[in-house]
Amino acid sequence: MVASTLLVVGVLIPGVLCQSGSNILSFVDPLIGTVNGGHVFPGATLPFGMAKAVADVNGEDQGGFASDGSNITGFSHMHDSGTGGASSPYSPTLLMPLFMMIMATIYYSLIDNERHTHGLPDRHKLYATSPSLGNFPIFPQAGCPDDLLDNCVFPKTTRATPRINGTVEAHPGYFAVELATNIKAEMTVTNHTALYRFTFPETPTEANATLSPLILADLSDLPNSRINGSISVDNTTGRISGSGTFSPSFGIGSYTLHFCADFQGAAIRDTGVFMNDRAGTEPKNLSVVQDGVNNSPEILPAGAWTRFHAPNSTDNAILARVGVSFISAAQACSNAESEIPAFDFDAVHTAAQDAWTDTLGVIEVIPGQGVDPSLQTVFWSGVYRASTSPQDYTGENPLWESSEPYYDSYYCIWDSFRSIHSLITIVDPASQIRMMRSLVDIYRYEGWLPDCRMSLCKGFTQGGSNADIVLADAYLKLGSLAQGVDWQTAYEAVRTDAEVEPKNWAVQGRGGLTSWKELGYVPTDDYDPYGVGAFTRSISRTVEYAYDDFCIAEMAQALGYAADAQKYFGRAENWRNMFNPAQNSAINGTDTTFTGFLQPRFLNGTFGVQDPIFCSPLLNFTSCYLNPDGHETYEGSAWLYTFFAPHDLAALITTLGGPTEFVRRLDFLHESGLLYIGDEQAFQPVFLYHYAGRPAKSAERVHAYIPSQFNDTTVGIPGNDDSGAMGSFVALAMMGLFPNPGQDVYLITPPFFEEWSVTNKITGKRATVRNVNFDAGYEGVYIQSATLDGVVYTKNWLTHRFFLEGGVLELTLGRNESAWGTRSEDLPPSLSTGHNLTGYYKW
Ligand SMILES: *[C@@H]1O[C@H](CO)[C@@H](O)[C@H](O)[C@H]1NC(C)=O
Ligand SMILES: *[C@@H]1O[C@H](CO)[C@@H](O)[C@H](O)[C@H]1NC(C)=O
Ligand SMILES: *[C@@H]1O[C@H](CO)[C@@H](O)[C@H](O)[C@H]1NC(C)=O
Ligand SMILES: *[C@@H]1O[C@H](CO)[C@@H](O)[C@H](O)[C@H]1NC(C)=O
Ligand SMILES: *[C@@H]1O[C@H](CO)[C@@H](O)[C@H](O)[C@H]1NC(C)=O
Ligand SMILES: *[C@@H]1O[C@H](CO)[C@@H](O)[C@H](O)[C@H]1NC(C)=O
Ligand SMILES: *[C@@H]1O[C@H](CO)[C@@H](O)[C@H](O)[C@H]1NC(C)=O
Ligand SMILES: *[C@@H]1O[C@H](CO)[C@@H](O)[C@H](O)[C@H]1NC(C)=O
Ligand SMILES: *[C@@H]1O[C@H](CO)[C@@H](O)[C@H](O)[C@H]1NC(C)=O
Ligand SMILES: *[C@@H]1O[C@H](CO)[C@@H](O)[C@H](O)[C@H]1NC(C)=O
Ligand SMILES: *[C@@H]1O[C@H](CO)[C@@H](O)[C@H](O)[C@H]1NC(C)=O
Ligand SMILES: *[C@@H]1O[C@H](CO)[C@@H](O)[C@H](O)[C@H]1NC(C)=O
Repeated sequence: MVASTLLVVGVLIPGVLCQSGSNILSFVDPLIGTVNGGHVFPGATLPFGMAKAVADVNGEDQGGFASDGSNITGFSHMHDSGTGGASSPYSPTLLMPLFMMIMATIYYSLIDNERHTHGLPDRHKLYATSPSLGNFPIFPQAGCPDDLLDNCVFPKTTRATPRINGTVEAHPGYFAVELATNIKAEMTVTNHTALYRFTFPETPTEANATLSPLILADLSDLPNSRINGSISVDNTTGRISGSGTFSPSFGIGSYTLHFCADFQGAAIRDTGVFMNDRAGTEPKNLSVVQDGVNNSPEILPAGAWTRFHAPNSTDNAILARVGVSFISAAQACSNAESEIPAFDFDAVHTAAQDAWTDTLGVIEVIPGQGVDPSLQTVFWSGVYRASTSPQDYTGENPLWESSEPYYDSYYCIWDSFRSIHSLITIVDPASQIRMMRSLVDIYRYEGWLPDCRMSLCKGFTQGGSNADIVLADAYLKLGSLAQGVDWQTAYEAVRTDAEVEPKNWAVQGRGGLTSWKELGYVPTDDYDPYGVGAFTRSISRTVEYAYDDFCIAEMAQALGYAADAQKYFGRAENWRNMFNPAQNSAINGTDTTFTGFLQPRFLNGTFGVQDPIFCSPLLNFTSCYLNPDGHETYEGSAWLYTFFAPHDLAALITTLGGPTEFVRRLDFLHESGLLYIGDEQAFQPVFLYHYAGRPAKSAERVHAYIPSQFNDTTVGIPGNDDSGAMGSFVALAMMGLFPNPGQDVYLITPPFFEEWSVTNKITGKRATVRNVNFDAGYEGVYIQSATLDGVVYTKNWLTHRFFLEGGVLELTLGRNESAWGTRSEDLPPSLSTGHNLTGYYKW
């Protein structure tokens, strides 16, 4: 880098300044993806923090808040980000009927976790999962009309208040919005505690009210899933604390959460509880159970409140500190007291910013002259979103005693294995190692690895047992750095996925495992009396199981279990077994000219038919979810799944007619409207050209999707962010090292910036990728030649050793496709071409 030149130019064009240190945070926009189905949580959180504070709305509320102009119902302290399904209905008497919840616990989950909901038929909402968490919202009012307690509003439906447009501010560790009642709400967090600063107007907007703020705490959550709860208020201190049992948003069982709210800034006037729309100063506590009459989870508004005299500060501010805990209300209080002893909003905010600067600051970007600053926002915001979940609940797990870390909100690994964990492994390997330890610990105590997990509950399995992939990925990449992970138990866990069919495979392991072992595929008309789960997705489960087994084989090989390795490498071949070489595909009666697709296959070995374009955006896009009639591919078409053989693309390319024909088919996938980039299975096909010796086409393809589908607007995410999956995709794609997750492989394309570096937090080594002949218009996105640490480098991929040991990868770009990275010896490894797939990094 030519720092001095860059600085001089930087005065004129801020975009070329090196982005590092605290100025990184100005490039993070948490509001990206807060409408249009992104479902992003835009509030205040620490990296992987448990407390996640934001304003909750009555619109698109999966992430709590949405930039949709809907009204604000409260401020709550825990959220998940980017999850699927429909928003909560407006009515408080709402929700999934109980029979559906019971059926869900059996297995008929009737749930979609993925697709955004706008524009979908109403019927779809019936099958949707609910928003997550959002428990114990607090809500401020400046004064009760006529100063009468009962004139204040208590239920969510009546208290919902418009925001003042243009007042939303969102930054790492900070969120603010002003209500139409002229109350400004600001929030920041520590790991388990939210701190709010409510600034009240001198004159309340409420009729005939004088300034005497009331803050209530509501025994509810975003989806109104409360099963029971209790709350109490201390008349002397104004402290409100309580507990509630709720349902998880995409899983079975229930969880109990506790909170503890304290206030500072005004003298207490009086306190009490509310039930429905009435409030009183007596009693000082209440508890609510399901009424048992309607046999439904219909919940009555209930909670407690504290009313204050006019604040004693000139700015009329009252601070509310809310601790949360899964252990007890007492622990919620002690979390809050120890983490935020002084109610010092600015200090907590600064500490949160410092935590983010520390996490994101391992990356340094020299954008390059003329690069659109919005691309930096897209990039940094992507890294940011991928650093919010899984959430660190260590010390907060009531389910088992353990000294291991406990992370939650693996939501879902079906999504996160494809890029989130790969990015965390690069940017924050220490957290990735803690997450792997936590996965192993979950296996130890639950008997199974999760495929999805939230709110201490087992979430629904969408396809295979994808934790196998995440564990193999970490094992291969982190090597001896991950010695804290008990790899023997990790191996036992993945082997359990491969060998034992669970009684309820809707939430763990793999269904159809007996057929899988005997026949090498999951038959579409499977006979499976060994466990329960939805008998759908036979195609997608088959190809996912094959890849899961491949990843297990890699671990077996590396751990020295040669016989297992051989067995699972063998089972990894099973992706071929549902490939019908005779199947054609037409769109509206016009043949696509491609033959050979994955198809349903019966027990007797004959093929059935599912139109290869079915469940693509071109035909019945929303027909392949977790509902009982969800068909044979999950959230995608057979066209798309036919490309899923991440471990043996060489064989897949041969199967599909050779490199030229493969590239023609891949082009068609991208250009025909068959591919929806807003679902995670679409990530890898962007880069598969590498395996056909055409890395230049992967580079072209990346630019076709970024920024047109991933940009810095509130609609700038094409699908549910899924805990940062879309964020990690865009970040890795812009870095130009896209992983083939589960393998120690990164596919090389030119970064969107002139240069970036990552300093490995554990080894201290710095990896740099530099474009030579970089142009901000991205006309020259074709690698002509490359050097790694000054030595000519012709492979179109590299391994994680680059990040562990550091180095400089220099890519010389040009305006035309070149021969770089195209020879067979330059291609990434494939099972059938006999490459040694493990051990790139020595332990
Ligand atoms: C605020 O914005 C929303 C759309 O986001 C709009 O519906 C509403 O009318 C606006 N309110 C005001 C007061 O401008
Ligand atoms: C939001 O509040 C305004 C004013 O109270 C009301 O007119 C509007 O219908 C509300 N909208 C929603 C979606 O609740
Ligand atoms: C928050 O938790 C993380 C672990 O997830 C820890 O590294 C960090 O130090 C904690 N922050 C504070 C302020 O305690
Ligand atoms: C305010 O109180 C006065 C006196 O009680 C009453 O006449 C008036 O209607 C009230 N105004 C409103 C807006 O409620
Ligand atoms: C609340 O419901 C849960 C789940 O049904 C139950 O385990 C718990 O005992 C209940 N608690 C109270 C206080 O009723
Ligand atoms: C509650 O506190 C208020 C103000 O400190 C006091 O006036 C009131 O008597 C107290 N009520 C009870 C029941 O202790
Ligand atoms: C404001 O009131 C609170 C009690 O409600 C008190 O702790 C604090 O010291 C007061 N601050 C000032 C500046 O008087
Ligand atoms: C298929 O034909 C219908 C009816 O003419 C048309 O609306 C639709 O857009 C066509 N779809 C494609 C993918 O060409
Ligand atoms: C195989 O099984 C399928 C599904 O049960 C059935 O439709 C088909 O006729 C069978 N084919 C043969 C050859 O038995
Ligand atoms: C496909 O969608 C159409 C119209 O949306 C619907 O009538 C039809 O039942 C769907 N087919 C299947 C197999 O889901
Ligand atoms: C931003 O991305 C969204 C979602 O993919 C897309 O609909 C929109 O057109 C994009 N906007 C721009 C300006 O590219
Ligand atoms: C793969 O490579 C590693 C490290 O280079 C080596 O130790 C191992 O024996 C190789 N495995 C096979 C099966 O060739």
